[in-house]
Parts: sequence; structure tokens; C-alpha cells
Amino acid sequence: MTAIRPLVAGNWKMNGTSSALGELVALRDRLEKAPLPEVEVMVCPPATLLSRAASVLAETAIALGAQDCHPLPCGAHTGDISAEMLADAGATAVIVGHSERRIDHGETSETVNAKARAAYRAGLTAIVCIGETEEQHRDGETVDVLTSQIQGSVPEDAQGSNTVLAYEPVWAIGSGLTPTPEDVARLHGVIRETLGQVLGPDQGGATRILYGGSVKPSNAAELMSIPNVNGALVGGASLKASDFCEILAVYRSDSAT
Ligand code: PGA
Repeated sequence: MTAIRPLVAGNWKMNGTSSALGELVALRDRLEKAPLPEVEVMVCPPATLLSRAASVLAETAIALGAQDCHPLPCGAHTGDISAEMLADAGATAVIVGHSERRIDHGETSETVNAKARAAYRAGLTAIVCIGETEEQHRDGETVDVLTSQIQGSVPEDAQGSNTVLAYEPVWAIGSGLTPTPEDVARLHGVIRETLGQVLGPDQGGATRILYGGSVKPSNAAELMSIPNVNGALVGGASLKASDFCEILAVYRSDSAT
């Protein structure tokens, strides 16, 4: 497998008004002073901040992502936002199928697949999220759930250049809990294998697989060193530039890993 450049994306969820742009300025300034060429850095603020965030991040190496999109390019869908609109606001990526969308909005893998295709149509990278619930975890269904979510959610023409897979155990999100490193290694291996079956070995091997769920400065180095973990999707710890930078520092070549 060729070397994959890792990605660390901050998912702000429904957090942040104008004042939060200060954190983005702080992040930009810190990375300008001490660049991190080893890792791609992305921030996914709420849609209301996208265009102002795009101005803050213009001409920096920090990518801008959105958190959801509608499958269609336009139409009578009050309150929804299309992938084309996100691209127009300055986003280059969009998260689709986050468990909070699957649970709060009843999104199926079929919907998520349509959203990923909408992302490609608009020229965006799709960050496709999968993950088992606490109950499925307890009942030993994790591998089946992940396999079927990948088969259903990842478009068959997805490529490593336009698709990122994010594995986020639902029970680990915002809970402070994380799977053991052995479980992360085993499940990311299963995900890699399944991506290879769905996309073929080349694209399956080139697709980044992020771990998400309670990633924080204290556990990032261990999680990011696991085989087939090509970065992280970070929620709570991405809201403060100082915490996010501590996580990113895992990829500093002069830092102990
Ligand atoms: P968390 O969220 O880092 O706050 O657990 C991760 C996510 O849901 O993307």
C-alpha cells in the first residue's frame, strides 16, 4: 500500500457563533508559525460560519468541511443545504452519515450513499461515517454493522482521492470512552478489507480511514499510531485551538510518537 497522508478533521457540530472564528484564527496562526506538512488539517464548522471561515482560512493549508448536505442540487427542501451551496460557500469536503444524523434524522445508509454522490457531483470530498451503537457493541454485532454500513453508504465509484471513511463507535462519541487499541486495530483492518472488496484493492487501499470518538490530547498519540488509522475525526476537542493543536502535534516529526 502506498503511503497515505493522514487527515485530522475537527467537527464542531452545532457549536459556534461569530466569536468562535477567533479559535480558527488562533489555529491558523499557530499552524502558520509551525506548519505540519505530515498531516492534512480540516475544520468543519456549522454551515452558518462556512463563508466567514473560508475567508479566515484563505491561502492557508487548512481545509474547510461542512457537516451534512442534501442529496439534490436545489429545490423545495426548506432548511436543507445542497453540496453545491457548500462548495460555493468555500467548503471542499462534507461529512455525511454522522451517527447523530443517522439517529436524530433517521438517515439510512442509502441516504448517506446519495449524499456522498452529491458531494462528488459538487466536487467535494465525502467523509462517510460509520459506527455501531452501544447495544450492537454489547451484542457482538460490530463487524456486521460496519460491513453493511460500508456496503450501503460508500458509493461503488468512490475513490481514495474523494472519499474518507470515518469509524466512530457511537458509544465512544462524547463519552470519554474509547475502544482498546487492539479493537481499533482489528476493526480498522476489517474496514480496510471491506473497502477493498467494495472499491477494489487500489481505491480501497488509498482511502483514508479515520478513527473518531473521544479523541483528545491524552490518547491521540496511541490511537494515531495504530495500523490503518489514517487520522481522526475530532468533536469536542476540536473546539479549542489549543486542544486541537495538541492532537495535531502527534504528527510533528520532532515529537515523540
Ligand atoms: P467527540 O466526537 O470527539 O466529541 O467524541 C466525535 C464525533 O462525533 O465526530
